[in-house]
Amino acid sequence: MYTPEKERRLIELSKELLSKVEQIRSSGLDEAKRYLPLLREVINYHDYKYYVQSSPVISDYEYDTLFRALRDLERKYPQLITPDSPTQRVASEISGEFPTVKHYTPMLSLDNAYTEEELRDFDRRVREATGLDEVEYSVEPKYDGAGIALLYENDLFVRGATRGDGETGEDITSNLKTIRSIPLKAPFSETGIELIEIRGEVLINKEEFKKMNRERLEEGLTPFANPRNAAAGSIRLQNPQEVAKRRLEAVVYQVSYVLPQDRHPSTHYDSIKLLHEAGFKTPFKDMKLCRGIEEAIAYCKLWEEKREDYPYEIDGMVIKVNRKEFYDALGFTSHHPRWAIAFKFKPKQATTKLVKVVFQVGRVGTITPVGKLEPVQIGGVVVSSVSLFNEDFIREKDIRIGDTVLVERAGDVIPYVVEVIKEARDGSEVPIKFPERCPSCGSKLVKLPGESAYRCINIACPAQVVLRLKHWGSREAMDIRGLGDSTAKALYSKGLVKDVGDLYYLKPTDLLALPNFAHKSAQNLYNAIQDSKGRGLHRVLYGLGIRYVGLTTAKKLASVFRDIWELKRAPLERLIGVEGIGEIVAHSIKEFFEREENLAVIKKLQEAGVKLKEEEPSKGGILEGKVFVFTGTLECCSRERAGQIVESLGGTFSNSVSSKTTYLVVGKDPGRTKLQKAQRLGVKTISEEEFIKMVGLQKQSLFPE
Ligand code: IVH
Repeated sequence: MYTPEKERRLIELSKELLSKVEQIRSSGLDEAKRYLPLLREVINYHDYKYYVQSSPVISDYEYDTLFRALRDLERKYPQLITPDSPTQRVASEISGEFPTVKHYTPMLSLDNAYTEEELRDFDRRVREATGLDEVEYSVEPKYDGAGIALLYENDLFVRGATRGDGETGEDITSNLKTIRSIPLKAPFSETGIELIEIRGEVLINKEEFKKMNRERLEEGLTPFANPRNAAAGSIRLQNPQEVAKRRLEAVVYQVSYVLPQDRHPSTHYDSIKLLHEAGFKTPFKDMKLCRGIEEAIAYCKLWEEKREDYPYEIDGMVIKVNRKEFYDALGFTSHHPRWAIAFKFKPKQATTKLVKVVFQVGRVGTITPVGKLEPVQIGGVVVSSVSLFNEDFIREKDIRIGDTVLVERAGDVIPYVVEVIKEARDGSEVPIKFPERCPSCGSKLVKLPGESAYRCINIACPAQVVLRLKHWGSREAMDIRGLGDSTAKALYSKGLVKDVGDLYYLKPTDLLALPNFAHKSAQNLYNAIQDSKGRGLHRVLYGLGIRYVGLTTAKKLASVFRDIWELKRAPLERLIGVEGIGEIVAHSIKEFFEREENLAVIKKLQEAGVKLKEEEPSKGGILEGKVFVFTGTLECCSRERAGQIVESLGGTFSNSVSSKTTYLVVGKDPGRTKLQKAQRLGVKTISEEEFIKMVGLQKQSLFPE
């Protein structure tokens, strides 16, 4: 048992050991004898916090540093290894809720390298063991998801398991069968393979992850800290139908066992190629064969730079000896193979202090507590503010002002408090008190039954009005360039606009009253507002900011009802009958159209000539069957507008390049990722000029004289 005093002492000790880790690693025998028991004691403690209590008190990076110091010292003085050392076991994650299965070969971890020097050391060891002068390495991304092992017998997917303790995993076959990137049948017998065990990772792409968290928040659930936690939690759900809803993907990156054994591909590259051709999602297109470690290092560095652009969370690169014939000579430790190493990118977690909490009013009146932090660097970005979501989140994690918190910034996802380091408390921490009144308008806040958020229900609350204006002008709504945060605020505070309907009655001269507005900017904003009138019903519905009506629902509603007044008239049952619309959303729509003040806004919009209908999608247009993707800045119009033009001519418009893409239209300063992908997939790229010719558009100036 760890008493609070003991925990405090162990945390202090961890910090001390971390601060002189270099010195520890170069210890002589006597010092090693003194440091080894200390390292084991703190690591055992951190294992307990992580695996038993699920509440780690240090970051993964710090844990790794301690673990590696222990391991390196033990390597140097093997006579000092004890049977109870944390290096002598692999931690288990088995919960007993699924039947267990034994892996064909142990599912090991990877050794980690944090510097180029450590990679060169690895290369030196490989060259020594193989006698090679220069080693061929295969280098690929290290996916940050949940590890899985897949078994195929006579071409059929027969079993899928979690990593478990490495020897034995949990049988989650029915859950994995819901993941569409895992083929249920794959043509292995064509190459004489009767049985094959494959290793891979279950992932959630960053966009899906963001969507998933947004939905969880709306449902009053606590969002996940990162895509890895979301994936790991999802594959172990007890109900495969729930799993199917989670939009999971699986990538495979290792062949671990093959029968008959002589059918095992002779290189790592060939195994990935085999899996790629058998229909799996693999790193095939993202991996590189490198001659020697320097080439491998350069490839790792290249990826570290484009890490943020990658659709999945990756925490490093994996360098593997390509030729399998050397694996036996290199062998394994109980923890990892000696023929592979992970080059870890900068960690995305850090601990810092929560200084205070402010309360923000959202567009629909939701009050969100936002934590202000002592600024801290995470993955190259300074983080000083973090959403605490709602009262439940704060209570669940018992977050207090003055607490030391572990913060993670995964991908382009917003920073997240993973854990409070309770052991670092000294008693001066203050519980967070929720306000009773709206910080913007002062009206009394309410908490609706079944909801975790407090809300300000004053429709005229200034903070909400400004946010609604801004949302109306946003790209996916009415796309009014120039209607940003400060302009929305100024329009409201000058009394020019009280709701989105008022925008359409503004004259260019009214806009001259705004700070920093001159003749040209006023004219531009005026034109942008006028131009937005024809965007169509789904953008209007989305722009109105009806609770729970996101872009997808707005599109659905517009395509079914086609006219805003039809939608208003629709009875509740008819709304619920629309695919993808449940009771909560339907009620929210009804409620919106029952409010007089909302109807008044819609009437204002109608009288101003804003289109409140959706047109039939055109059939047989000149772009029918063609899929367009845009990259970079277009001169003619916004990407959204270009997409609308494509759709109006019967084509489709997508945000990412795939094998289905017909043209990638390249504007100014295009993104590297889309271009490279198009090149790889052989997708035709065209310039904006060519696009304009193709759709028969006049190159028009945004600012007519
Ligand atoms: S190879 C025996 N390749 O990282 C070597 N692992 O931190 C098997 N991982 O347990 C692993 N991407 O779950 C390999 N491209 C990749 C990987 C990868 C992610 C995971 C895997 C492993 C963990 C070690």
